[in-house]
Amino acid sequence: MSLFGKRRRPDPRGPGELLSQFTDLDGIPLTTPPLDQADGDDDERGRRGRRERVNRATAARQGHREPGRGWAPVDAARRAPVYRATTAEVGGLFPLLASNGVPAIGARLGYDTQSGGAFYVHPTEWVLRKMVTNPNLAIFGEPGRGKSSTVLATILRLSLFGVRTLISGDVKGEYTPLLRALDITPIALGRGSPHRLNALDLGPIRAHWPTWSPARQREELTGILARWTRLLTALAEAQGYPPTVTDELVLSTVLNRLVGAEHGSDELRPITIPQVVAQLADPDDDLWQQTRFASYRQFVDHTRKITDALSNLVVGPLAGLFDEPTNFDLDWDAPVQSMDLSLLRSRGDQAVAVALTCLGSWSSMITDLQDDGDVRLVVRDEVWRQMRLGLRAVQAVDSDLRLSRAERKIQLLVMHKPSDLLSVGAAGSQEVSIAKDLLALCSTRILLGQSTRVGDELAEELGLSDREQAVLTGWAMEGQGRALWKLENSPGMKIQTVLSATERSIFDTDSGLRESTGDQPSTGGRPRLVAVPPAPSSTGDSSVNSEPVPDPARVNGTAARW
Ligand SMILES: Nc1ncnc2c1ncn2[C@@H]1O[C@H](COP(=O)(O)OP(=O)(O)OP(=O)(O)O)[C@@H](O)[C@H]1O
Ligand SMILES: [Mg+2]
Repeated sequence: MSLFGKRRRPDPRGPGELLSQFTDLDGIPLTTPPLDQADGDDDERGRRGRRERVNRATAARQGHREPGRGWAPVDAARRAPVYRATTAEVGGLFPLLASNGVPAIGARLGYDTQSGGAFYVHPTEWVLRKMVTNPNLAIFGEPGRGKSSTVLATILRLSLFGVRTLISGDVKGEYTPLLRALDITPIALGRGSPHRLNALDLGPIRAHWPTWSPARQREELTGILARWTRLLTALAEAQGYPPTVTDELVLSTVLNRLVGAEHGSDELRPITIPQVVAQLADPDDDLWQQTRFASYRQFVDHTRKITDALSNLVVGPLAGLFDEPTNFDLDWDAPVQSMDLSLLRSRGDQAVAVALTCLGSWSSMITDLQDDGDVRLVVRDEVWRQMRLGLRAVQAVDSDLRLSRAERKIQLLVMHKPSDLLSVGAAGSQEVSIAKDLLALCSTRILLGQSTRVGDELAEELGLSDREQAVLTGWAMEGQGRALWKLENSPGMKIQTVLSATERSIFDTDSGLRESTGDQPSTGGRPRLVAVPPAPSSTGDSSVNSEPVPDPARVNGTAARW
């Protein structure tokens, strides 16, 4: 006891002792006497031999035991256990906060601002764990909020887990710096680029063809012909002509004859759109008879409109881009591949939409063919542009989303707002109703900052709670890379994407602005992509490349192919 009769505070219990005092869930105490009996020092006790309590209860812990006053009979044995400790013993309750339930598997993207824990992304694993029903993702956000950066960080970090990505049409050239940093040459299409992509390219199918059994050849050919026919009818529709079933049959027959697979040939011939147009405009006798027309004249008259629609593609703003043989080799082993369409924008929205459709069809065909078991991620930025071409273009996207699980693909749609999807057709049209349902085919929604008006729209479309909506229009607007992640209908998680210094310099889409305002050295009028720092190997600037970018050669250690 001290001179002034002051009470000495007991030594705080250590963590081991505190933990041993937890009870099991049935409320059965495990060990240790209650706190006020812990110390046997007589000086610590009051007149009745017990220690004085500092925090006296002012009301019974269970409330007043009267019906109608909040009291309920509870099985005493099952009451929730009560733990007591002083602030000297427990400085805070962290980490006893509930975590978000997302497993620590896949790409570590940032952190959950509610629990403080790291946040990981692995859509296929989420499907396997029954957290979502499909691996597709849709990302929404105002321009400049960080959509592309979030996508880039996801694909870069998922590549370390064997997920290979195809950017199916990069309208603004935003993904090109990442490819350059990885030492991959992106395929640029458009004004000034020497690259040509044949919309009817056979890709790796030609090489595989002789090795397949006749049954496999038949099966693959049916798939290829169906895809090409869908593509050509979608392109014709984009020119204002809705093809008929007869047109589809004629196209399929022409394609089959041109590719040379009619009679079980050992080799497939490469074909182009001008060849299809030539056959339609001037059919040989076999063709008009095989497609059950009464005469040459009747064939030509019936197919005039589809022939003209396809001819427009060959002579219009896209002339030369998709109607000549492909003249580049795609690096099939690269972890990320992209088609940069930024050079095409000057040719108008229609040209971009047609290009996206050709690329969508082509990339689906080549990714379908990969039976290496790898998971593919297909990014469709500004997907609504492609779907504006008409019903068939919308149906193509719809079918890709539906098949993602079966084909081991993750489809990632990037949009500004849900009403982008309504712009694909007239109000009440079939296009719009299919497009609206596309959201239901994307189990994971990543919602970056939005204005109040778009917030209302998103809340209605996705069934957000008031709190979730407030997060979008408030918290998410206060910083780039902040998003509400919603997995199916589970409560949204407030996730901050964290970019490394290297990623920030690679993903810097504001760099164009900086160049013009003189913050950065001028690039001498060259395209803005050259402002992006080159890959670490080609520069000694450690301030920019302070963190390593995954080496494509090391990714997954296997030579996976598209
Ligand atoms: N998590 C983040 N941390 C730091 N900076 C970020 C983050 N996310 C984005 N940024 C920066 O914000 C800028 C805009 O990002 P981004 O290009 O990804 O936006 P966006 O939503 O794709 O825009 P747009 O709709 O115009 O394509 C970029 O300079 C990027 O580096
Ligand atoms: Mg973007």
